[in-house]
Amino acid sequence: MVGNNTPVFFVRDPMKFQNFIHSQKRRADSGLRDNDMQWDFWTLSPESAHQVTILMSDRGVPKSYRNMNGYTSHTYMWVNAQGERFWVKYHFKTDQGIDFLPQEEADKIAGEDADYHRRDLFEAIQRGDYPSWTLKVQIMPFEEAKTYRFNPFDLTKVWPHSDYPVQEVGRLTLNRNPNDFHSEIEQAAFEPNNLVPGIGPSPDKMLLARLVSYADAHRARLGVNYKQIPVNRPKSPVHSYSKGGAMRIENASDPVYAPNSKGGPKADPERYPEAAIWSAGGDFIRAAYTKRKDDDDFGQPGTLVRNVMDDAQRDRLVSNVVGHLKSGVSEQVLKRAFEYWHNIDQEVGDRIAKGVSGS
Ligand code: HEM
Repeated sequence: MVGNNTPVFFVRDPMKFQNFIHSQKRRADSGLRDNDMQWDFWTLSPESAHQVTILMSDRGVPKSYRNMNGYTSHTYMWVNAQGERFWVKYHFKTDQGIDFLPQEEADKIAGEDADYHRRDLFEAIQRGDYPSWTLKVQIMPFEEAKTYRFNPFDLTKVWPHSDYPVQEVGRLTLNRNPNDFHSEIEQAAFEPNNLVPGIGPSPDKMLLARLVSYADAHRARLGVNYKQIPVNRPKSPVHSYSKGGAMRIENASDPVYAPNSKGGPKADPERYPEAAIWSAGGDFIRAAYTKRKDDDDFGQPGTLVRNVMDDAQRDRLVSNVVGHLKSGVSEQVLKRAFEYWHNIDQEVGDRIAKGVSGS
């Protein structure tokens, strides 16, 4: 998995991803970042409301990498030895506790030390204060996905814990620093398509797009044989018919094609039977984006603002959004931004509008 420190994402349609990225990066003319561009895209994409609420909350300014959770965000599939299928979401909960930086302190640190987070993590591991995360999963029986009140494959939604409680399954500990940042970190190639038998993708179209995109990026960034770079090389031997390309260091041997009658390696379909794939029967393919009873773009972020945040957290959310909107957002986009926050929560929307207008 290649996850984020948030359980949801800005868009649910992979065709919008590159536009989303352009809107968060830099303008064509000045090459500068631009809040107007960000809010323009967000307010024209109401499905972003849940993620923007999280981004503008304390979770958007973690105190360190050690003080944040990790999530697959996407739903994946699990298949057990009996061939039973389940849907699963992963949550890596920080054992260091969630903590955040006030906006002013974060601004100051960003100006003084751009390597603050990287240094914190390296030094903690160096002094033996190994950060760890408890891995918890939410599990949904296969058939329940068809009728669950939220579309379980919509990346802009969470599964409320009251419906699917988190269950502890393991722990991730970072107990070693790299010796060579370039070869062990910069050359690392993570890809959500790198799945072991027993774990499969779900019909979340965002995940399906990522299954192609990351490996494609690695081929461009590191070369076609990126899986032979030591940091990416599997611990077990790999028997494939892959051959040729720049920087190949493992020798190929005959036969170099399949199928063959020369005793070359064969796939073992027993380890990943067709029955274990969600598309068997075609039942979920088209249904993945149909709206469910409780599916709307502003429902879950509204619940987050009203029922999960306390007063102090709501105050900081309002202040973060006001600060951001006051910096270079045009009148027309501002109007839509107020409407967006009113849709999330009337009171928070009023406070944001008042904070920006100063009346
Ligand atoms: C359609 C949606 C998406 C596409 C096409 C996409 C594509 C990409 C690509 C091409 C990279 C660069 C990979 C590399 O060169 O190593 C990247 C990096 C990354 N993406 Fe995505 N992404 C998408 C959505 C997401 C989502 C939903 C998450 C989190 C759940 C995510 C998490 C990350 C992370 C953590 C990295 C940095 C990985 C690293 O540093 O090695 N992305 N993405």
